[in-house]
Amino acid sequence: MDIHVLVIEDDIAYGEMIREALRHYGYQVTLALSATSGLDIVRQQPIDIVISDLNMPGMNGIELAQRLVQMYLDIPIVLITGLHDLSLVKKALNMGVSDYLIKPIKIDEIPVVIERNLERKRLESHRIQENKAHILFKTIKALLRALDAKDPYTSGHSQRVVKLANKMADALNLTDDERFTLTLAAYLHDIGKIGIPDNILQKSASLADYELRRAKDHPIIGSQIIGEIEELADVASIVRHHHERYDGTGYPDGLKGEAIPFFARIIAIIDAYEALVSDRVYRKGISREEALREIERNAGTQFDPYLTKIFLNIMREEQTSVSTPPEDLNSDKTPAIETVPIHSPLPEEKAKNQSH
Ligand SMILES: [Fe+2]
Repeated sequence: MDIHVLVIEDDIAYGEMIREALRHYGYQVTLALSATSGLDIVRQQPIDIVISDLNMPGMNGIELAQRLVQMYLDIPIVLITGLHDLSLVKKALNMGVSDYLIKPIKIDEIPVVIERNLERKRLESHRIQENKAHILFKTIKALLRALDAKDPYTSGHSQRVVKLANKMADALNLTDDERFTLTLAAYLHDIGKIGIPDNILQKSASLADYELRRAKDHPIIGSQIIGEIEELADVASIVRHHHERYDGTGYPDGLKGEAIPFFARIIAIIDAYEALVSDRVYRKGISREEALREIERNAGTQFDPYLTKIFLNIMREEQTSVSTPPEDLNSDKTPAIETVPIHSPLPEEKAKNQSH
């Protein structure tokens, strides 16, 4: 990718000399003859780094740096200065200036300074991103605790869905960003249960039709909660569609096949499997192999057949592998008892036959 350098220098000959040298090194360069016209250029086009003379008539380099900071433009600015101005430059470093070059400039030093400052900026934004992700996960854990407090029977379910989602992410070779989205969706898929009345969530008897309808609102409520966070629009859509069925008979929108978001199709399989092997208030979870057969039976109707195949491969390979014994998802003994109609990813007729 081209790196765009803005050079601001009131001495035309000197500015042109820097511009030509930088072009020689492969940079895209724009030359401005004053700080004011430099700011105009910054407003109009993406600039990666600014190299500016310190002393210029009108606005000087330090004032320029302050203006860039005020504009929330995170562009590194390197000042060109004489030795006599060095004490001023050191002050400027505290005011938003990133680095400096001392006249007479050695031309081969400029690319080193440019790369050093761009790398520093890259590391800084990476740190900020990591920090944001960390805070996001903490917020999500707090939300999940709120759900656990309301519905202790589902405690641990999301964590186990996350574990399986990570295995699918490995098998599908997902990028880091895709993995992040899938993991968040796995954690949050049932967060909408927060909006379902306790007497429906915790009912151990069969739900009446109107109660079932309320319970089936949880994907919509969940996507509305997550939808409040603009950056998580993808996650909100997965949450909304995690109870859709591949044949179009699921809820809330009756989406069919590829129209269902890819990650929602993954969560649907994992969610169903996890519900099948987990103990519930009215029955013990079924065995791992029985659950896998149940998932297999519903490939093409309830579940995406391609993703089902991948899921079954992962689970069966794990089971037959001598070096890695199958992981028992119930081994942490977290109560994972759920009320079927709310969370049931089972085929409709099976769900109806479940006794609570
Ligand atoms: Fe659900």
